[in-house]
Amino acid sequence: MAPRDTTLFYLVLCLGQKIEAQDGNLSIPTISATPGSVIPWNESVKILCGGTPESYLYQLEILGNSTYKVVEKKLGFQKTAEFVIKHMDTNTAGRYQCRYRKQYSWSVHSEALELVVTDTTNQDYTTENLIRMGMAGLPLVVLLVILAENWLGRQVPHKEDQQELPELSCSRQKTQTEWTFGLTPRVTR
Ligand SMILES: *[C@@H]1O[C@H](CO)[C@@H](O)[C@H](O)[C@H]1NC(C)=O
Ligand SMILES: *[C@@H]1O[C@H](CO)[C@@H](O)[C@H](O)[C@H]1NC(C)=O
Ligand SMILES: *[C@@H]1O[C@H](CO)[C@@H](O)[C@H](O)[C@H]1NC(C)=O
Repeated sequence: MAPRDTTLFYLVLCLGQKIEAQDGNLSIPTISATPGSVIPWNESVKILCGGTPESYLYQLEILGNSTYKVVEKKLGFQKTAEFVIKHMDTNTAGRYQCRYRKQYSWSVHSEALELVVTDTTNQDYTTENLIRMGMAGLPLVVLLVILAENWLGRQVPHKEDQQELPELSCSRQKTQTEWTFGLTPRVTR
């Protein structure tokens, strides 16, 4: 090749790259997680980064304190790259994004994917909390019962079956068998 042709060759190559980078023809990569983005602690999750069949390099990144850090790279032509996180924990939970490389340029970043880890011990905490809340609510229930009894006690004398009251207290003074006997007809009726 003559020197002049070589220069021309490179010029065209450069121009080609420029054009490709400028028109932003690379589609936005997709990102998703299977089975889902909420993962129990220590379970595995697969992150899928979708590009084009011509993409030969995929890069998964996680948002650190303020910047994204590369987690893993996958080399090889494929339309979708799979990244597996074997054991989910608080370190692997977070915001992920990915991008791919095609020819000479990187694609833009995908949308952010938030992976959440659920702690199994947390579930114990919630039941514990429920029990604790129940215990805290118990005095209220007792109070309500007392109030209800009080209210009923005030209601009963107004009713016509006022006479039942002394009768009831009377039967209570009797033996247990007589008391239950006295109650039986009312129950069966
Ligand atoms: C991207 O460029 C290719 C050729 O390189 C073309 O076939 C395709 O239609 C373009 N896609 C978009 C979305 O412009
Ligand atoms: C995490 O899961 C693996 C199996 O996937 C198991 O072998 C390991 O014991 C688990 N770790 C804990 C701390 O439960
Ligand atoms: C990021 O977090 C690490 C600890 O996880 C800390 O040491 C580091 O200073 C933080 N960096 C910034 C820029 O906040």
